[in-house]
Amino acid sequence: MTQAEIKNLVSQMTLEEKATMCSGADFWHTEAIERLGIPASMVSDGPHGLRKQDDKADHLGVNESIKAVCFPAGCGTAASFNRDLIKEMGATLANECQAEGVSVILGPAMNIKRSPVCGRNFEYYSEDPLVAGEMAGALISGVQSGGVGTSAKHFLANNQEHRRMTCSSNIDERTLREIYLGAFESAVKSSHPWTIMASYNRINGVHATEQKEYLTDVLRGEWGFDGYVMSDWGAVNDRVAELAAGMDLEMPSSNGENDKLIVEAVKNGTLDEAVLDQAVERILNIVYRFEENRKPDAVWDLDADHEMARKIAQETMVLLKNDDILPLTADKKIAFIGQYASKPRYQGGGSSHINSRRITSAMDAVSEYCTVTYAQGYSDKADVIDETMMAEAVKVASEAEVAVLFVGLPDLIESEGFDRPDMKMPKNQNELIDRVCEVNKNVVIVLHNGAPVEMPWLPKVKGVLEAYLSGEACGGAVVDILFGKVSPSAKLPETFPVKYEDNPSYLSFPGEGNEVNYTEGVFVGYRYYDRKKMDVLFPFGFGLSYTEFEYSNLKLDKTSMKDTDEVTVTVDVKNVGKMAGKEVVQLYVNDVESKVIRPVNELRDFVKIELQPGETKTVTFVLGKRAFAYFNTTLHDWHVETGDFMIRIGKSSRDIVLEEKIYVESTVRVPVKYTLDSCVLDLQEDPVAYEIAKPYLKLGFFEAQNNEDNDDSATAEAMSKDMMEAMVRYMPLRGVLSFSNGETTMDDLKELVEKLNNL
Ligand code: BGC
Repeated sequence: MTQAEIKNLVSQMTLEEKATMCSGADFWHTEAIERLGIPASMVSDGPHGLRKQDDKADHLGVNESIKAVCFPAGCGTAASFNRDLIKEMGATLANECQAEGVSVILGPAMNIKRSPVCGRNFEYYSEDPLVAGEMAGALISGVQSGGVGTSAKHFLANNQEHRRMTCSSNIDERTLREIYLGAFESAVKSSHPWTIMASYNRINGVHATEQKEYLTDVLRGEWGFDGYVMSDWGAVNDRVAELAAGMDLEMPSSNGENDKLIVEAVKNGTLDEAVLDQAVERILNIVYRFEENRKPDAVWDLDADHEMARKIAQETMVLLKNDDILPLTADKKIAFIGQYASKPRYQGGGSSHINSRRITSAMDAVSEYCTVTYAQGYSDKADVIDETMMAEAVKVASEAEVAVLFVGLPDLIESEGFDRPDMKMPKNQNELIDRVCEVNKNVVIVLHNGAPVEMPWLPKVKGVLEAYLSGEACGGAVVDILFGKVSPSAKLPETFPVKYEDNPSYLSFPGEGNEVNYTEGVFVGYRYYDRKKMDVLFPFGFGLSYTEFEYSNLKLDKTSMKDTDEVTVTVDVKNVGKMAGKEVVQLYVNDVESKVIRPVNELRDFVKIELQPGETKTVTFVLGKRAFAYFNTTLHDWHVETGDFMIRIGKSSRDIVLEEKIYVESTVRVPVKYTLDSCVLDLQEDPVAYEIAKPYLKLGFFEAQNNEDNDDSATAEAMSKDMMEAMVRYMPLRGVLSFSNGETTMDDLKELVEKLNNL
C-alpha cells in the first residue's frame, strides 16, 4: 500500500478507531477494523525460535506455545561472530513465521551485557556494542528478507531484571551514545527493523516509553527508523505523553483504558490529532508490509530446521581450554557424566522459551561416533549433593580414560525476571567436578549456561567447551566438536572475569532502590579489564581452534588521513594447521594519546573466514571516522582527537598479533567556552588560543624563580623546574593578576577572554 493510500485509510477512521489501533487487540494481535478491511496482525515471541501461543497467552513462557524449533540463544549466536550464518537462521525463522501467519517476531533482544549476572544475558549478545549491533543486525536482515518483521528490543538501557519495570538506568550522555545506543544504532542503520520495542525501565528518570529524545529524535531523526515503536508488555506509564514521544503501539492492551485517554486528550486539545494519525499510519504501514509479503503457502519442515539448528550450534560453542585432550578419538573409553549430557540445558526461561518438538542430547548423538558410559552425577532441581549419584559418577569416571562432564547453570538460577546472585555454579556440580578430577586426570568440561561462571576447578581439568545455550540440537553439535568433525570457531562475545567482584558494574549493580547509576561509564566489559590490566579467566574475543592461524602482512593504504577520509586495511590469514577451520579476524583501534579517557582497545570490525589447511586469505576492512571517534558532549557529536592511532589485529582483545600506526587529523574544532577560571593548560591544549593568550600571560613571579642566576632564592631551591611549570599550567587566568608583578590587569584578562570566545 502506498503512503497516500495509508493516509487515505487513516482519514476514514473515527477518532475512537484510531485510538484503539494504538493498543493491542489482545496479547498478541493488533486491532482489526473490519469496516475498513484492516486486518489484525499477529506478533510472537522469539527470538531464537517461534513462541506462538494460541489460547492461553502470557509473556513469561508459562503457558504452552506451538511446537517449534529452538535455535541457539543470543549468547551463542553472538559467539559465532558469523553474520551470514545468523542471517540464514533469521531467514529460517521468517519461513516459520510465514507458515504460522506471524507478522513480527519479537526480537532480537540486544541489550548490552553490563553485568555478567543479568538474568537475561543468555538472550543478549555482547558486552560490546559493535558485536551486539552487528549480530542483531544479521538476524534482523535474515528475518526481514523473508517478508516478516522484527522488533529490536529492549530499547533502551534495560540491563538488569531486578526492578526491571521501574528502575532508572542513570547514564551519562557519552556512555549512552558509545555503548547503549551504540548497539541499536548499527542494527537500525544497517538492517532497518520494522519495529522497535521500548523497554520497561526509565532512563535518567524518564520512562523509556516516554523518551522523545531517543524514540523520535535519535531513532527516527538521526538513524532513519521508519517502522513503529511498541511498548514492552505492560510498560506503558503515561499513554498520552508516550504517543507524543513516538511510542506508537501499546502492548498488550489496557482493555481500552488508555485508548480512552487518547480520545480525551485529542478532544480537549492536549494531544494534536496529527500525532495520533502519524502513529496509526506507522502501524498500518507495517501491518500492510506483512500482508503484501505474505507467503500463505509457506511450509516448515521441523526436521530440516532442526538440522539447521545443529549447523548453527556448531559455530556457537567456544573452546576455552584444550591441553592436548580434544578432539577425542572413538577408540578411547569415554564416560559422559552429568545430567546435562542426557537432558541438556539448551535455552533459558521466560518469554523466549520455545516449546521444542525434538531435543538432541549429547547422549543421543554420541552413538554417531562411539558408545560411552554414563552417570547422572547431580540433579539440577536443587543444589544438594546426592551421595548415591556422586558415587556412581566417580565410579564411572574412574573406569574411563576420559571423563566428559556436562555441567552449567540450572533454569532455577538463570532466567528472565530475576538476576543471578553471583557468578557461581551450583555447589553440587562444582563438587562433582572436584571428585571426578580426583579419580581421572583426563577431564573435559562442557558448560551449558547463558553467561559467565566462575571456574575454581579450571587448573584441574584438561579441556573446557563453553556450549552456551545452543538450542534443541545442541547435543549433536557438542559431539561434532568433541570428536573433531568440526573445528570449534566461536569466540567469546564477553569477558569471563576471574570472579564476579572484578566486574566494573559490581559496586553499582543492581542499584539502590529504583536508581541504578552506571558509574563505570564507557568501561563496560573488556574496555574496563584491559584498561586496568586485570587478570581475567578468558578475555573478550577469545576462543581456541583445532587448527592454527598465522597472521601476516598487515597493510594500511595510507599512513595519515583526515577524519573525513577512509583507510583500507588488509591482512593475510593462513591456516597453518592440519584441519579446515574458521577464524574470526578482529580489528581493534587504540587511541595512542588522548585527552579523553578512553578504553585501550575498541573492537571496530570483525570478519569470519573459512580456511582449508595451507590456505591463505586476505581480509579487507575499511575504516572511517567512527572507528577513531568518541562521543563529544560539547559537540553532541562524534569527534576524533587529532593524533596517532594504532590499528590492531587480534585473536582476542588481549592477544594483539599485528599493529600499524595511522595519523588522523580532525576537521572539527571543539569550541571551548573560556572564562577567567580557564587555566593555562586549557589554552595550551588549544594551540590557536594559546598563541593569542601568550602576550597576556605575564607571570613574572614564576619567571623570576626560574631564572638560573637567582641561585640565592629560597623558593628556587624549594621548587623544581617541573613543579614551577606545573604551577603555571594549572594557573587560572584570574590568578595571573597575583603573579604578574602588576603587569597584567583585570581589563587585559577580560579582553583576552572575549578574544578567545570569539575565535
Ligand atoms: C519481555 C519481552 C517479550 C514480551 C512478550 C516481556 O516480558 O520483556 O521481551 O517480548 O514480554 O512476551
